[in-house]
Amino acid sequence: MAQEVTTLDAELEAVRAEALRRLDEVTSVDEAAAWERDYLGGKGRVTQLLRGLGSLPAEQRPAAGRATQALKAELTEKYDDVGARLKAAARQQALAEDAIDVTLPGRPVIIGAAHPISQMIDELIEIFALLGFQAVFGPEVETGHYNFDLLNIPSDHPARDVWDTIIVESPNEEIVLRTHTSPMQARTMERMQPPVRVIVPGRSFRFEAQDASHEWMFTQLEGLAVDENITMADLKGTLRELARQLFGPTRRVRFRCDFFPFVEPGVDFAVDCAICDGQGCRVCKHTGWLEMGGAGMVHPNVLKGVGYDPEKYTGFAFGLGIERIIMMKTGVSDLRAFAGNDVRFLRQFARPIV
Ligand code: PHE
Repeated sequence: MAQEVTTLDAELEAVRAEALRRLDEVTSVDEAAAWERDYLGGKGRVTQLLRGLGSLPAEQRPAAGRATQALKAELTEKYDDVGARLKAAARQQALAEDAIDVTLPGRPVIIGAAHPISQMIDELIEIFALLGFQAVFGPEVETGHYNFDLLNIPSDHPARDVWDTIIVESPNEEIVLRTHTSPMQARTMERMQPPVRVIVPGRSFRFEAQDASHEWMFTQLEGLAVDENITMADLKGTLRELARQLFGPTRRVRFRCDFFPFVEPGVDFAVDCAICDGQGCRVCKHTGWLEMGGAGMVHPNVLKGVGYDPEKYTGFAFGLGIERIIMMKTGVSDLRAFAGNDVRFLRQFARPIV
């Protein structure tokens, strides 16, 4: 009997010594798991010892059980210590690998910026807001009805050819890419009653050969004011204020007779060249003047077409090229640059987004 106990004690000691030695050699979480399986797992050595206790004589079991449990407790505690140490080490290593050198210079972040045309549209919207104009937007694909008919340009009228129209194929209706922003005159008046004061920024399209001053796509700003007693003086005052807001307080504007079927009288308007102060230079082609667009008093037929009484209401309208204004202000000499998508060109206009 005593023999049995002694054998068990020796075996416990042997298992203990071996387990501790092997635990000392463990260097990874995986190795620790294997160790745990070998000694404390379901088929591990200590578990087997515990199972074997049942075969001991009853009077030896309590002491043997305590000794084996004590070994299990000791090994479990040591194993937990080693596991915690390994986990901490793994964490340290992961942190070291992920470490960021905060002293390295940052990588430049390229931030997009508004296109120069969008910037100019924003500026124009602001200027006209101060004059009481509201910005409205309309479709780029238009019907001939709005693009021409309601603008006093019937289909048999030769003036229809003046706008080199890009036609969208369509079996039943005349569909075009709008040749100007003027179709929004009728669209706006159909929707509201006087007083009307709107501007319409937007793209327009014409079938044209491209060169430095011609593009098949360009951006216009339409203006329309209709009310009782609107006169040519209101038109001139509005465009003069626009020129001064855009080009400086001493700018002068010039109006000359011109023809557009939807205005009577019609004018073209120009601003004296801000670069040479009207003296004549390359930008103004030595004329001293920069052409800005067309304008005039809304034709009675246009008012009638939208159901306004031309005896009661009068109005003025104007249309100008937004790219042209940017060119005058910045000296950009080729219209094609605006839709060319060359970031080196565009970046020159980038300003911080606020
Ligand atoms: N729509 C005309 C054009 O594109 C410009 C214009 C607008 C003229 C309004 C008079 C009045 O040529």
